Amino acid sequence: MLHTPTVRVLRAGEEADLAQLEMEAWPGPLQASIDKIKTRIELGHRIMVAERAGALIASVCYVPTAHDPFEWPAFPKTFEAFSLMPRSQAVRFVYVYNLCVHPAHRDGSVVRALMRAGILDSISLGAESLVADGRCPAYAGSTELPDRVDADEEFHQAIDDWRMSGIKPSDEKLLRDPVLRFYRRLLGCRFLYLIPDFIPADIASGGHRVMFIADLKKATLTNDRDRNAL
Ligand SMILES: CC(C)(COP(=O)(O)OP(=O)(O)OC[C@H]1O[C@@H](n2cnc3c(N)ncnc32)[C@H](O)[C@@H]1OP(=O)(O)O)[C@@H](O)C(=O)NCCC(=O)NCCS
Repeated sequence: MLHTPTVRVLRAGEEADLAQLEMEAWPGPLQASIDKIKTRIELGHRIMVAERAGALIASVCYVPTAHDPFEWPAFPKTFEAFSLMPRSQAVRFVYVYNLCVHPAHRDGSVVRALMRAGILDSISLGAESLVADGRCPAYAGSTELPDRVDADEEFHQAIDDWRMSGIKPSDEKLLRDPVLRFYRRLLGCRFLYLIPDFIPADIASGGHRVMFIADLKKATLTNDRDRNAL
């Protein structure tokens, strides 16, 4: 039987362990190097990890910020800018990125425990909402291990239409993608923006990201009915 994971903040000196987890959880170009992880920590980012039998098995990064995601002109338009924002003193939001679970531990339970800890930590820092960059690998599909996502023609068309017209597609269309569906189920999030060329190395997503927002207090609840009752 698998032991319940321990969830905690990444400790100093564990950057190489996290880089190893990223190597195993992400397809090639999306993995963070040790230096990148160190830079994020120096900028004041938090990294929550799950550990099982002495090994890191899941992680998520976030930066506490006063930056309002609805101020579109100032919103970071690339993953580089989004994931290298300095932490602000006053905190209203957390900007979240690089959520991953080791492929051998993907059953939903680890990621829920990890996100719950990250959310409670963010609330304790003063944040009200989280903003994150949603991958959308159904755009082009991926067979590069450990990714295994089928391309979805209807989803692809919906993203292309959004990019051309600026009009957000229906949730029904967006939820054809497994990662966006996963985030909706986990957090009850609302999709905000499409950013083309946010991360060109993510070929499966066509470089796009679908940015979303979720209320942190509602996101700790386990199902949509409880969230809607708030
Ligand atoms: C996204 C992720 C954290 C989910 O963790 P998990 O333990 O598998 O979570 P769950 O079991 O609750 O959810 C699984 C769902 O995620 C989907 N999924 C998300 N990313 C996937 C991927 N890279 N490959 C295959 N399926 C993926 C599954 O299809 C499934 O959706 P469905 O049940 O609606 O078909 C994990 O799949 C992962 O680490 N993926 C790679 C990194 C990544 O893409 N992170 C998201 C960054 S925006």
